[in-house]
Amino acid sequence: MSDSGLVIDALSPAFAADPYPSYAAAREQAAVFRQPGDRLAYLTRFADVHAAFRDRRLGSTFLHRFTPEELQLAPNIPTWRDPRWTDFQAFERWELLNLEPPVHSRLRRLVLEAFTPRAVEALRSSIEARARGLLAPGREAGRIDLVGDYAQAFSLGIICDLIGVSPDDRETIKRLSDDTVSMYEPGPSDEQQARSNRAAGDFRRYLLDVVAHRRAHPGDDLMAALIDATVDGERLTDDQVVSTAMVLLMAGHEATVNATANGVAALAANPDQWQLLRSGEVAVKAAIEEILRFDPPLQWFERWVLDEDVEIAGVPLARGSRVALVLGAANRDPRKFPDPDRFDITREDTGHISFGGGIHFCIGAPLARMELETTLNELVATEPELVVLPGAVRRPTFQFRGYERLEVALHSA
Ligand code: HEM
Repeated sequence: MSDSGLVIDALSPAFAADPYPSYAAAREQAAVFRQPGDRLAYLTRFADVHAAFRDRRLGSTFLHRFTPEELQLAPNIPTWRDPRWTDFQAFERWELLNLEPPVHSRLRRLVLEAFTPRAVEALRSSIEARARGLLAPGREAGRIDLVGDYAQAFSLGIICDLIGVSPDDRETIKRLSDDTVSMYEPGPSDEQQARSNRAAGDFRRYLLDVVAHRRAHPGDDLMAALIDATVDGERLTDDQVVSTAMVLLMAGHEATVNATANGVAALAANPDQWQLLRSGEVAVKAAIEEILRFDPPLQWFERWVLDEDVEIAGVPLARGSRVALVLGAANRDPRKFPDPDRFDITREDTGHISFGGGIHFCIGAPLARMELETTLNELVATEPELVVLPGAVRRPTFQFRGYERLEVALHSA
């Protein structure tokens, strides 16, 4: 328990550093965990989180069904209503994660075409070449910061190329993306929210320029496809194209960078597991699923209760209240995974919930898996032991769980 007396205290650095013991306490206490002074109800057991992702009585938004007044939310001024944060709201207005059917289904169908396993497989050789190119200086130096000097450039470069954003603008995209997503951390300060709002505005304006340029100079990237696409006979508006590109640029690298670092750290801390990869006894693909189960880069997602009389595990949840689906806790539920705190790449049940489920299931899962596989294949090929050098720094953030810096020793190819 943290200093605040809360079991789940997303604002506490100690909790963010290692949330798993607190999750275990919450999970064993109740199926729907509540704590004093906290507006959220937490689902921490695998079966409940799995069902909640598919439960249409819960929604990412409620605005398709109710006004805030109808849900009696007026006394609170959450982000999406605060008159100061209009740029962030303009982004969220058409953000896939924040939409519900039928609008969500239409937009999602369009984006999905670019991310099918087949479409992603076609990128394999260019992804492999990119990985080798980025690792080359580290191979010469004998060490590399896997986050700052590799994974960020790797994942961001791939998604920027797919969307059709100039390579020269990657640093700008990175900064705008980091600042925009800070709104999603629990309890953001006014300063954080202002920064996020500013970044969302700059990000939108930047992408509106890209859209205008693409209209004048058609290409074969995803931006061009979104501009050209018609859904039920209608073209997407510029605002819809921009929000979709924004969510892809952000979701398309933040989580993968963090998963790469979490995975390498877990493998380095468990040399016996590394040897199973080196010897070929266990496939890299299997290790990736265990990495995503063991230390997911996105820790929870919230949903609104949309219907009257909703009960989960026999516990009533009021319409208009919020539920946290805690992926990090569900993935360590002993009811589903034996000895869940053990990092074990030989597990038979690899059915983690780190990509979510139901209508918002991660669109980028095939791409994320391929990126992780490519990176690990490169390391497995040359590293008899996977060694993390002193000075690793975890990100202080809770929702986006990863490392700021993770230096590893690297041999020549
Ligand atoms: C290891 C890496 C990744 C993880 C763990 C991850 C996880 C998730 C999760 C849990 C959701 C569902 C959120 C919810 O239900 O509220 C989601 C949705 C989404 N992800 Fe990922 N993601 C990863 C990589 C990517 C990549 C590489 C892309 C883009 C290329 C991407 C694009 C998206 C999009 C667009 C959605 C929204 C889908 C929708 O609302 O229909 N993700 N992701």
